[in-house]
Amino acid sequence: MTQLFINIKELIQVRETSVQKVSGNEMRVLPTLKNAFLRIENEVIKDFGSMETLGDIAADATIDCSNQMILPTWCDSHTHMVYAGNRAQEFFDRIHGLSYEEIAKKGGGILNSAKQLEKTTEDELYQQSAKRVKEVIAMGTGSLEIKSGYGLTVQAEIKMLRVIKRLKETFDLPIKATFLGAHAIPAAYKNNKEGYLDLIIQEMLPTIAAENLADFIDIFCEVGYFDLKDTERILVAGKKYGLSPKIHVNQFHSFGGIQLAVNHAALSVDHLEEMTTEDIEALKNTQTMPVALPSCSFFLGIPYTPARKLIAANLPLALATDYNPGSTPSGNMNFVVATACIQMKMTPEEAINAATINGAYAMGLANQVGSISKGKLANFIITKEIPSYGFIPYSFGNPVIESVYLKGKKQ
Ligand code: NIG
Ligand code: FE
Repeated sequence: MTQLFINIKELIQVRETSVQKVSGNEMRVLPTLKNAFLRIENEVIKDFGSMETLGDIAADATIDCSNQMILPTWCDSHTHMVYAGNRAQEFFDRIHGLSYEEIAKKGGGILNSAKQLEKTTEDELYQQSAKRVKEVIAMGTGSLEIKSGYGLTVQAEIKMLRVIKRLKETFDLPIKATFLGAHAIPAAYKNNKEGYLDLIIQEMLPTIAAENLADFIDIFCEVGYFDLKDTERILVAGKKYGLSPKIHVNQFHSFGGIQLAVNHAALSVDHLEEMTTEDIEALKNTQTMPVALPSCSFFLGIPYTPARKLIAANLPLALATDYNPGSTPSGNMNFVVATACIQMKMTPEEAINAATINGAYAMGLANQVGSISKGKLANFIITKEIPSYGFIPYSFGNPVIESVYLKGKKQ
């Protein structure tokens, strides 16, 4: 089936030759075509160009996009959207003055989610999570990474990863699974962190690898969670099963996690709210994508990732939601893009690059999604009538999306 989208006011993020990622000054450039057409065949992008060059092309369906724009769907490279229930009570506690770290120390936080998840059946967990996936698709997300990490037992981690596998099989968007067994030390191992790491390495990883349940490995490298030695152990163990690292690092403290991640060829380092000059230096000339999660900073009231410093150092930057029940109960990439512009002073061009092509890179999906390029998946957003793409972050919180297509199918 061929579909032809015509009179597109502006076709955004058009890349004739598909790039893997954009860095530094390149991020300021967002290639677009005005008054354009887009032709898709079945699941993929076949052709695009200016309306003047469109000959007499037959199509099974022709869709007029006058006054509307088309851009690739958002690539959300960091989420924890498979979880049970919610943590609204902790939100109220924070309003009353407790910090995220204080709540975690009281047995709230990740351990609270683990308790709720344990009581939830695999099917119920799937239902709750599928609802979230549908919601984020409606908000323009067309590729996703989802982490485990609220199980913290062999059985419950596998339950989470099987749910992610079922989501992969059900939905029309690429989903990558990340094993985050080292998200927190479970209550049963309170004074035995080494024992828990042994469990991850000796029991969880082999089972997960045997069932092919994970694409990447992650760890919460943070004071009070896992230190550099633990991180090294987990990354080395993951590598034995071919799992590239994508790690939580520098959320509250900077203590060498980035340097370690880079030495282990991490695909991405995520959070980065606390960045020293040395941390920025360590990322130069590497293949590791820095990932900022501005909704998390917004929700917790912690610093934003210093995007300007990273970009000035000629580094790339990706934007993702961090959708999870504790620090970011929101999977809205439109809000992420707006917040990156408003709070991190990224330009709309930089933010859109960060939320599309660079996000795709951070999931190893740059050949499939992240730009309007021939041969890539026909995953794109048709906007409402908006005057410019800068209107997307400018009119923050307002709906700008008319429809979302995944693999050529209107959602
Ligand atoms: O990325 N920081 C670690 N993990 C999540 C939050 C987990 C939670 O609070 O449930 C994050 O912010
Ligand atoms: Fe996270």
